[in-house]
Amino acid sequence: MNETLGVAIIGAGRVASAHCRAVKATPGTRVVAIADTDIARAEALATQNECAPVRDYQDALARSDVDFAIIALPHWLHHKAAIDCANAGKHIFVEKPMADTVEECDEMIAAAKKNDVHLFVAHTQRFFASTIAARELLESGRIGKPIFATDTWYKNFGLEGRPAWFLDRSGGGGGMWLMNGAHMIDRSCWVLDSEVAAVKAWIGNPIYNLSADDSAMAFLQLKNGLNISIIHSGYKSGVQKCEVEILGTEGMLKFDSYSNHLEVENDGAYEPIEVTRHDPFQKEVEALAHTIRTGAPLPVSVEWGRHMVDVLCACEESSRTGREVVLG
Ligand SMILES: NC(=O)c1ccc[n+]([C@@H]2O[C@H](COP(=O)([O-])OP(=O)(O)OC[C@H]3O[C@@H](n4cnc5c(N)ncnc54)[C@H](O)[C@@H]3O)[C@@H](O)[C@H]2O)c1
Repeated sequence: MNETLGVAIIGAGRVASAHCRAVKATPGTRVVAIADTDIARAEALATQNECAPVRDYQDALARSDVDFAIIALPHWLHHKAAIDCANAGKHIFVEKPMADTVEECDEMIAAAKKNDVHLFVAHTQRFFASTIAARELLESGRIGKPIFATDTWYKNFGLEGRPAWFLDRSGGGGGMWLMNGAHMIDRSCWVLDSEVAAVKAWIGNPIYNLSADDSAMAFLQLKNGLNISIIHSGYKSGVQKCEVEILGTEGMLKFDSYSNHLEVENDGAYEPIEVTRHDPFQKEVEALAHTIRTGAPLPVSVEWGRHMVDVLCACEESSRTGREVVLG
């Protein structure tokens, strides 16, 4: 292990600058290489971060000054890249969703175990300050015992700016469901503190008629007896909304991670609660760096990352068959 942990960023697309910023802000870590098959992208980000651009990520993994790699690739490449990182002896930070199938997750977990490296699945939503504060508020008993949550996210699909892989579910792992369903299932289940027992869902493409979904509704029954409804759409024209609302026996709360908003019901109306903002990406990098240095458990287990993929795929199966799917 290098005294300052060296980081290779694999994939210099939309999310990679957030990773660079997070590594820069985390004491004891630095970006040493950025890989992208589109070398101009790697070069642009590498110039900003004063590190080496490479086209082939294996060249970054071959460097002795790299301790962990951040995989920020199209979903269908998470599996192969994570196994390559493990075989190169590098710890792994993989963006959500962990992979496209549970079988791929199992192979990634096996490769990490075999090579004795940590595998961290970056479910960013639970690292936002307002998500953490919502969970603490619930634990404090302020709204009594939770009953159910509704998680609603409407956003612009942004067709013009989307890469080709995102417009194809079967080959690329694309679509709004894998991209944002992963966030929604993680944040709501984490705040309600439970895995999922069974799902019934509809996932479709009525707006754009692409080979990937643009809209979804899912009903999740949790192992702890609570329920979550998830409503998501990447609209062509609409009003943006991203909010989780929780009903308890003694009140209600709602939060929105991106706008750092948390409100609790008081006497029939919502009142804001102040939450100090922090960078969730930095919290993720700090968590993995801490685990690499101390061996402490990761805040997102590989089993949880795999479970999220299991739930995403179970919802797709339910949508295909029109039936409830019970998770194993
Ligand atoms: N945590 C969050 O809030 C958040 C936000 C956005 C995206 N993401 C996740 O980040 C990942 C990447 O998403 P994105 O929107 O940045 O995608 P993107 O398409 O913008 O970027 C992917 C990059 O990977 C490069 N690439 C493709 N194949 C490659 C290969 N074999 N080797 C090296 N580079 C290769 C592409 O050229 C592209 O620059 C996804 O898992 C996505 O779900 C997470």
